[in-house]
Amino acid sequence: MDLKQYIADVKDFPEKGIIFRDISPLMADGEAYRYATNEIAKYAKDKGVEMIVGPEARGFIVGCPVAYELGIGFAPARKKGKLPRETVEVSYGLEYGSDVLQIHKDAIKPGQKVMVCDDLLATGGTIAATIQLIEKLGGIVVGTAFLIELTDLNGRAQIEGYDIFTLMDY
Ligand code: PRP
Ligand code: ADE
Repeated sequence: MDLKQYIADVKDFPEKGIIFRDISPLMADGEAYRYATNEIAKYAKDKGVEMIVGPEARGFIVGCPVAYELGIGFAPARKKGKLPRETVEVSYGLEYGSDVLQIHKDAIKPGQKVMVCDDLLATGGTIAATIQLIEKLGGIVVGTAFLIELTDLNGRAQIEGYDIFTLMDY
């Protein structure tokens, strides 16, 4: 399936010079959303994934249906101040701005095989921070999956040695 037809390219959002790759038309199409979910679920199954982590907010949109499809758990990595119980945290940079990401201390069991899901790999700051959170808790990151990779930004360099699955390149 040609998934790019379901991505809206928005110039100069959220600031000048950025082309925002909006995944909401893909989510709005049941067939396309299910196709993308199933492709990532197949990848996760091959990797023996036991738990999925998704960074706020679009990582929830991609990761939750994959977890549901596989019958495994999902843990949210959230921006600072959103999670109510004890957390670990990491600061990170983005294509536009910077932030702090947290995860509940009991979200991952030591030794658990984890996959990170997100909508988009840009500079790699978010995925690198999410991996750090999982590893702080003793989880093993066996794979990462994205709908979109912005190849020019070379986010891959931030997570050398980790396996990456993507459905669209820009
Ligand atoms: C976006 C996107 C990824 C991240 C990619 O999230 O959903 O998580 O940026 O950029 P990076 O590879 O440079 O880190 P954003 O922080 O804008 O938050 P949102 O999902 O809440 O909109
Ligand atoms: N997150 C970081 N860069 C982005 C972009 N260009 N489009 C959509 N989400 C993003």
